[in-house]
Amino acid sequence: MKFYLPPQIPRLAIAFGIFISLFLVLRHFLVPDTFGEYGHYRAASMIDNAKPELHYAGQDACFKCHQDIQDKKSQDVHVDIHCESCHGPGEKHVISSKVGDIFRPSGSREVCGKCHALYVGKVKSTIAQVDLAKHNIGKNCIECHNPHQPWEMKK
Ligand code: HEC
Ligand code: HEC
Ligand code: HEC
Ligand code: HEC
Repeated sequence: MKFYLPPQIPRLAIAFGIFISLFLVLRHFLVPDTFGEYGHYRAASMIDNAKPELHYAGQDACFKCHQDIQDKKSQDVHVDIHCESCHGPGEKHVISSKVGDIFRPSGSREVCGKCHALYVGKVKSTIAQVDLAKHNIGKNCIECHNPHQPWEMKK
């Protein structure tokens, strides 16, 4: 019996060959480098996820070294505002004690205005508001108010 190969078979084989090579080439470029290193996911995603630094330390951590400031704060209206609401995440600084590792807000009109700027929609009885366009303009807030003890006015 003579073996007879229908002509469409080699053509199909070539077409498949092209598709498979194309697939392999595309796959090579589309699959991230570290995919499958540990499992069915991109291994480098673990490094990406570990990157964001630890954030807040909680203000109790600040008292150990800055009890003087807490003493001021607890006598006045900012008693309930935690250190890190104004100074940002402080864990790095708690560990290092370095000045450069903690944010020192400027005490500018924008910084205090974040909470105290006058907005029609805000309840006045909850938080005191001042009209930034009128209240002692031309000066930063901390030129008069101590940020840790706002009613202990600076002269
Ligand atoms: C282990 C001790 C320690 C702890 C805990 C600590 N600090 Fe400090 N902090 C320091 C020292 C030391 C300085 C530098 C003191 C100086 O030069 O007057 C400092 C300075 C600062 C400054 C001034 C930064 C500047 O640019 O002038 C701020 C603001 C501050 N700390 C906030 C905080 C906050 C908020 C916390 C809690 C999240 C905290 N600290 C916890 C030791 C500490
Ligand atoms: C309402 C916002 C606010 C809160 C809450 C706050 N701070 Fe501050 N803090 C400031 C501002 C603004 C300055 C910059 C003052 C300046 O430059 O004169 C400052 C400065 C500092 C400084 C450096 C200058 C100084 O007075 O010794 C330290 C240290 C500090 N803060 C620690 C703390 C700690 C600790 C807490 C919590 C117990 C705290 N702060 C809570 C706004 C705040
Ligand atoms: C995270 C929000 C927040 C920030 C930022 C903030 N404050 Fe306050 N402040 C409060 C709250 C809450 C009170 C207590 C409620 C009240 O009396 O308005 C208060 C009270 C006050 C008061 C007394 C108001 C009164 O009714 O007697 C003054 C003055 C004041 N803050 C000044 C400042 C200054 C100056 C800054 C910037 C250094 C500042 N605050 C930043 C939240 C904030
Ligand atoms: C020149 C000094 C000075 C400056 C600068 C200043 N204040 Fe005052 N602030 C005062 C005095 C004095 C009072 C009390 C009398 C009054 O209400 O005007 C006061 C009152 C307040 C009150 C209480 C208002 C109320 O209705 O009970 C808040 C809140 C306040 N200031 C926030 C700020 C903020 C935020 C800034 C910066 C944008 C700022 N102050 C800048 C002197 C100052």
